[in-house]
Amino acid sequence: MYIETLQLNNFRNYEDEKIEFDQRVNVVTGKNGQGKTNLIEGINILSMGKSFRTLFDMEMVGFEKDFFRVKGLFVKGGENLSVEMRLAGKDRKFIIDGAEKKKNADLLEHVYTVVFSPEDLKIVSDDPEKRRRFMNRELFQLKPLYYMELLRYKKALKSRNLLLKEEQLNEDLLLIYDDYLAESGARIMNDRAMFVERINTFSRDIEDRITGGKEELAVHYESNIEQEKTKEAQKERILSVLAENREKDLEKRSTSSGPHRDDLKITSNGIDLRHFGSRGQQRTAALSLKLAELKLIREETGEEAILLLDDVLSELDEERQHFLIHSFEKNQLFITAAELSENMKKNLPSGRIYEVQNGKVNSLTGSIT
Ligand SMILES: Nc1ncnc2c1ncn2[C@@H]1O[C@H](COP(=O)(O)OP(=O)(O)O)[C@@H](O)[C@H]1O
Ligand SMILES: [Mg+2]
Repeated sequence: MYIETLQLNNFRNYEDEKIEFDQRVNVVTGKNGQGKTNLIEGINILSMGKSFRTLFDMEMVGFEKDFFRVKGLFVKGGENLSVEMRLAGKDRKFIIDGAEKKKNADLLEHVYTVVFSPEDLKIVSDDPEKRRRFMNRELFQLKPLYYMELLRYKKALKSRNLLLKEEQLNEDLLLIYDDYLAESGARIMNDRAMFVERINTFSRDIEDRITGGKEELAVHYESNIEQEKTKEAQKERILSVLAENREKDLEKRSTSSGPHRDDLKITSNGIDLRHFGSRGQQRTAALSLKLAELKLIREETGEEAILLLDDVLSELDEERQHFLIHSFEKNQLFITAAELSENMKKNLPSGRIYEVQNGKVNSLTGSIT
């Protein structure tokens, strides 16, 4: 799939812009703070319904404005698809081919994008929270129900933790929360285990290609709860761990075990890259993990996701740049960069080039090469 036009109204520093894109490669240049990432964010919210940079939708409304509207016209499987998001105060809605929707889950499964930003290069080296986020983001996109489940789990976890902080323990209530957590947690663990299995295969292949067979990447799902084959068994397992840890949890006044503490173990040639990888190895592995998402989306949905590369090209060496740009020839690409170095220019395939200045996008005529 690809995006043909994007219309931005009062979105971040864009007041009223309409941009037409190339079906294959779009390079967005511009000095810092001009709106390159805002543009990427604008495309991405049409697939996720929320920003990859902030938890607060309101932050995306232009300063001193009271609403925003982002509308994209896509081509998917040869058909036109129109997706719009509007936010005015607390009122948030999506309009998909003319039909109004309210829920985030209704938006997912229409537009597929994969964002890759400098933050993502740290997936392997950063703390577990980043790796959980990586799993969550991708699972949201492929499985709207996962999103609902995660919300349910977080709510139950919060309630349980509050309960643990009370002077007088309400045991009956604790058992109820334990049950919620176990039920929901089992579904989450199941989905994650399946996701990691697939990502493992895809990222291993990609890593193999990037490193010319030098690094054998492996990704394992690492949980502090033993994994079971079925959801029912998983639920029982979580319940028993919660019961086992009850004293400890009461003492610490928080829930010590569960998928909220999950991690991914990432190894290359058997070495744990989180702790022992060189910076280069960690970044290459991160690249392989992110690109595995494209393959996973392709396999699950038959769609080619739009790849949004925000400011990462300049962070990579020439070989990695080349790989990134030329290995996904069926995917529409967006590349942002403050400056195009000679190296980067050399690597870019033909497409359109834009310059952003203070929330205005100019299409620079002529192709890249
Ligand atoms: N809600 C907003 N309303 C108006 N301008 C905003 C808003 N949020 C961020 N900006 C502006 O957007 C600019 C940053 O845009 P960004 O896309 O991150 O820049 P870059 O081109 O470096 O990627 C800053 O000038 C910032 O003031
Ligand atoms: Mg930026």
